[in-house]
Amino acid sequence: MDGNGRWAKERGLPRIAGHREGVESVRDTVEACGQLGVQFLTLYAFSTENWRRPTDEVSLLMRLLMRAIRDETDKLHSNNVRMKSIGEIFRLPKEIQEELHDGIEKTKNNTGLTLTLALSYSGRWDITHAVQAIADDVKRGFLSSNEISEERFAHYLSTNDIPDPDLLIRTGGDMRVSNFLLWQIAYAEFFVSKFYWPQFRRAELYKAISDFQQRERRFGMVSEQVQRKPTMQKNIHSLLHRALGR
Ligand code: FPP
Repeated sequence: MDGNGRWAKERGLPRIAGHREGVESVRDTVEACGQLGVQFLTLYAFSTENWRRPTDEVSLLMRLLMRAIRDETDKLHSNNVRMKSIGEIFRLPKEIQEELHDGIEKTKNNTGLTLTLALSYSGRWDITHAVQAIADDVKRGFLSSNEISEERFAHYLSTNDIPDPDLLIRTGGDMRVSNFLLWQIAYAEFFVSKFYWPQFRRAELYKAISDFQQRERRFGMVSEQVQRKPTMQKNIHSLLHRALGR
């Protein structure tokens, strides 16, 4: 969710105003994904590297996050959304940890969209953490080195109960991954939106999905070997036209 700062700067506003408007985009995107029948959405809300930002911005962001989680949990629950988090949650302020814990507990049996918040997260942290856990299991004799396959490795990642992403959307126009889900995006399709995150609403999401639906995913094979599977029941084109008011 990139571009909050630039959105605010272009309007002569403090950076936090961009993050605040970004919460509206989170709301619209989560709601639209739920309605479309998307099963998994992972939002990169705060990276390990974001701790290096000015203290004021970090503490305002933390306050905003806490309020957003607290205010939205009931609505998410009534919309059958299951909340989850990945990252070094122990580094977050205690109050956020508690709000998160309550939200995750409350929504854990929901069967609709799984919404994963990546907080104090980085792909390299995830991989390093998995390697440490594997080394511990080998040391304790639970695992031998020749049993470490790609599948087994993935079980040690923080995303072990969610599938690898099909589509990765980056807002704000930059063409980089910025330490997000490094292992998991091996075969993800990329969509880079020029919109800053606060401008990203459902119409742009529909565009990203529509673009995704045109791609041929070959997973290293040749065209004749892959069968195109329908990716979604809903007609994204009519939704897109409606969202754009055409
Ligand atoms: C990146 O933009 C955005 C962030 C570091 C924060 C994202 C957080 C929110 C939108 C808050 C709400 C989140 C949830 C899950 C409720 P940037 O500040 O790096 O923008 P820039 O590249 O223009 O400086």
